[in-house]
Amino acid sequence: MMGDCRGFHFLIWVASVLCFVCFCSCQFDPADNYLIDCGSRTNTTVGNRVFVADNSASKFLSTPQNVVANISESVTSSNDSQLYQTARIFTGSSKYTFSISGRGRHWIRLYFYPFVYQSYNMSRAKFSVSTNDHVLLSNFSVSSNVFKEFSVNVTSDSLDVIFSPSNNSFAFINALEVVSVPDQLITDDASSISPPGKYQGLVFQTFETVHRVNMGGPLVTPENDTLWRTWVPDQSFLVNRNLAKSVSNIPAVKYVQGGATKESAPNTVYGTATRMNSDDDPNANFNVTWEFDVDSGFQYLVRFHFCDIVSDGLNQLYFNVYIDSWIAVRDLDLSTYSTNTLAAAYYIDMVTVQTASSKLRISIGRSTLHDTYPDAILNGLEIMKMKNLQGSLGNSSSKKHVGVIVGVTIGVSVAALLAGILFMLCRKRRQLPQLGHSKAWIPVSINGGNSHTMGSKYSHGTTTSANSNSGYRFPFVAVQEATNNFDESWVIGIGGFGKVYKGELNDGTKVAVKRGNPRSQQGLAEFQTEIEMLSQFRHRHLVSLIGYCDEKNEMILIYEYMENGTLKGHLYGSGLPSLSWKQRLEICIGSARGLHYLHTGYAKAVIHRDVKSANILLDENFMAKVADFGLSKTGPEIDQTHVSTAVKGSFGYLDPEYFRRQQLTEKSDVYSFGVVLFEVLCARPVIDPTLPREMVNLAEWAMKWQNKGQLDQIIDPTLAGKIRPDSLRKFGETAEKCLADFGVDRPSMGDVLWNLEYALQLQEAVVHGDPDENSTNLIGELSPQIHNFSQVDTSVNAAAQSDVSAVDDISGVSMSRVFSQLVKSEGR
Ligand SMILES: *[C@@H]1O[C@H](CO)[C@@H](O)[C@H](O)[C@H]1NC(C)=O
Ligand SMILES: *[C@@H]1O[C@H](CO)[C@@H](O)[C@H](O)[C@H]1NC(C)=O
Ligand SMILES: *[C@@H]1O[C@H](CO)[C@@H](O)[C@H](O)[C@H]1NC(C)=O
Ligand SMILES: *[C@@H]1O[C@H](CO)[C@@H](O)[C@H](O)[C@H]1NC(C)=O
Ligand SMILES: *[C@@H]1O[C@H](CO)[C@@H](O)[C@H](O)[C@H]1NC(C)=O
Ligand SMILES: *[C@@H]1O[C@H](CO)[C@@H](O)[C@H](O)[C@H]1NC(C)=O
Ligand SMILES: *[C@@H]1O[C@H](CO)[C@@H](O)[C@H](O)[C@H]1NC(C)=O
Ligand SMILES: *[C@@H]1O[C@H](CO)[C@@H](O)[C@H](O)[C@H]1NC(C)=O
Ligand SMILES: *[C@@H]1O[C@H](CO)[C@@H](O)[C@H](O)[C@H]1NC(C)=O
Repeated sequence: MMGDCRGFHFLIWVASVLCFVCFCSCQFDPADNYLIDCGSRTNTTVGNRVFVADNSASKFLSTPQNVVANISESVTSSNDSQLYQTARIFTGSSKYTFSISGRGRHWIRLYFYPFVYQSYNMSRAKFSVSTNDHVLLSNFSVSSNVFKEFSVNVTSDSLDVIFSPSNNSFAFINALEVVSVPDQLITDDASSISPPGKYQGLVFQTFETVHRVNMGGPLVTPENDTLWRTWVPDQSFLVNRNLAKSVSNIPAVKYVQGGATKESAPNTVYGTATRMNSDDDPNANFNVTWEFDVDSGFQYLVRFHFCDIVSDGLNQLYFNVYIDSWIAVRDLDLSTYSTNTLAAAYYIDMVTVQTASSKLRISIGRSTLHDTYPDAILNGLEIMKMKNLQGSLGNSSSKKHVGVIVGVTIGVSVAALLAGILFMLCRKRRQLPQLGHSKAWIPVSINGGNSHTMGSKYSHGTTTSANSNSGYRFPFVAVQEATNNFDESWVIGIGGFGKVYKGELNDGTKVAVKRGNPRSQQGLAEFQTEIEMLSQFRHRHLVSLIGYCDEKNEMILIYEYMENGTLKGHLYGSGLPSLSWKQRLEICIGSARGLHYLHTGYAKAVIHRDVKSANILLDENFMAKVADFGLSKTGPEIDQTHVSTAVKGSFGYLDPEYFRRQQLTEKSDVYSFGVVLFEVLCARPVIDPTLPREMVNLAEWAMKWQNKGQLDQIIDPTLAGKIRPDSLRKFGETAEKCLADFGVDRPSMGDVLWNLEYALQLQEAVVHGDPDENSTNLIGELSPQIHNFSQVDTSVNAAAQSDVSAVDDISGVSMSRVFSQLVKSEGR
């Protein structure tokens, strides 16, 4: 059986190799090739392709009502483009359904040209466009001709392209393409710019092409491109045209084995370049920079196309490549990748950090490493916006998670150990092979790693030099400098792992520097986990790692600075102004998004294991980001539905099932998140031993009131009169479901997210309503005696940048007090 299976796989392998050879030698023939000229009576030939007529009942279209519009019956002046002569207008949600014969990547290309037809002024149309599981355009409107291109991995046998008019508006489309793309076009071996390492998950992504540029060359139109793309000239993007000059040598371009293919980009792109205009000055030292408009808040896949059409021989050209101020490739020598062929076509894929600015700058400049003539080139560039993976929200994930992992957990947190003592004493801890360990230390191993893969990418930092990774692996002196030599007065947090300092890099970037205590084995494992996790997971709602330092046995992590500290600091004990209900809901929604992404955004589910309000950080706009991945677990997808591991995490937030069975699932995070929800609502510590016994544990106490339907009795007094009852009810129900005894009964993080968004909508609905009605409907007076806990003083530094470990972090209350209180309580 097994043998058969192997034989079969071998055949497939042979077939795919043959296929690949064929793919290299002949023109790409798309398995799916739907070209539709919407609303047109006649087939329209554009270049070498025919867009089919779609004016009568279309076999692809299902729509409650639509209007076929023809520009010759319009007041609008016409456009020469054939595809813009007609349109279909949809007054209700409508969809085109295409049957897919080759699963995998497809272009979805949309053509819009707004004109006025009868009562429809298409410039006023407002609508969204989505597929079965991704939103491509939302709340979209156009005022002039617009072309949009998306690259979607279609994983089912049919694809819907859905047009949904916004409120009281309508949708329209002039032409539509759904066309297969070679699977090799986007493979999963891009590098992440920061932190450095392999970026995984590209094959699942949906991309929107935002720029596709032919450096130093003319416009390349779809008929001159193997995949019907348009490449625009780069002149208008150059920041300083005088510093650059164009070169062209199209006949020189060679497509070599292991390099780029004609499908990566045509030779009209590889055969032209923009290079440094160094004016024969051997001391010239500047960058050639292009600036592109992008939407801020997204990550982009940047593909650099290179082909050395300027050198006379190998190993003559060395240069650096930058994305914004990040170094993308240092001392790039194209000839080391070209099996001794000059002018071989290559490309490099890099994934950016989430952009803060609406401009993305790409620069090339001389390398300082070698004593060579100053020169640098770029032949082509593509910038593709990565659509957030949250598109598929709400469908509760049936994903089986995580295989066995787990190694020895040396430092089981004291809290967990004591509290779980009954369960654990007589149980032998399992020791299983430590899978996943081999892939730890990604940022370090890429240092010397050879990333010359078939897709012809360079991993970030792979060069001939040994110190190429130094941009992310910070020298110890740089960390000293950034923290004023670990100035004690710059400490913003203290935890089991060590101290957290505020710091400033020499470019002015504010950072949080977490310095581990030396020689702690647990610390080392967590240090590695954290780097590994944060190298792979980039998300708006996960805190970003900027770099690390492991010189001299140091374990230092450098994060983006979160101006507003921890969520916990804003709930109680710090004297900071209290947050509004809306702010709290938004923070809960943001952190739920971060966790949902960890659980589902990647092939293997990741369990955070230490979800608590002290690990939710707030940036200057109070946007929430989940932090502290030191305890996270992931693993290969094996049949297990849980990870068996020693109990870790923070007391008061721990999943009771995890205690009982030492089995970890994403639902353990859901439980902890439920506790956070009550903490946010009630603004009190999750364990407060100074309170009467029945009130000590927040989860138990809040559930008691929730079950009585009187949750309003225990809310944070500063919220009194400000929460809409519907919103509170939804919120309470959501928290209650998270706290279900058994993991299977708890919702997924995606469901939690939905419910919280709904709670926010219910709250927001009030704003437009009648003010009198609002005031009477809001949560009313509260009995003051229930609230005396909210004054409990804690020692948590308000601005602390998280990382107060499980051991130290029992809401600022000392451990011994907690346990003496527990013991007393039990004894009562
Ligand atoms: C638009 O309408 C005119 C006249 O009604 C017709 O001749 C023409 O074929 C139409 N165009 C298309 C592309 O259907
Ligand atoms: C348009 O082209 C399709 C396929 O190429 C063909 O089946 C159809 O008959 C053509 N329609 C017209 C109106 O020429
Ligand atoms: C017509 O469409 C082309 C693109 O196909 C565009 O460049 C041009 O500006 C358009 N003309 C008008 C008048 O909108
Ligand atoms: C169509 O709408 C646009 C944008 O609202 C407006 O500028 C234009 O004047 C309108 N055209 C007509 C003919 O009403
Ligand atoms: C849609 O866009 C308009 C501006 O074009 C904006 O005012 C409105 O808030 C947006 N609506 C939604 C639901 O995003
Ligand atoms: C939809 O229209 C109604 C009434 O015109 C308006 O109150 C509501 O805010 C609109 N919703 C959106 C999302 O634009
Ligand atoms: C599309 O996604 C599936 C997983 O859903 C993956 O196995 C496949 O390799 C992807 N295809 C491409 C061409 O990226
Ligand atoms: C584009 O293709 C056409 C024919 O398909 C050819 O005549 C033309 O020279 C090509 N242009 C370039 C710049 O290669
Ligand atoms: C080139 O740009 C990078 C990134 O912005 C910068 O660090 C470097 O100093 C620049 N080099 C020169 C010579 O201006």
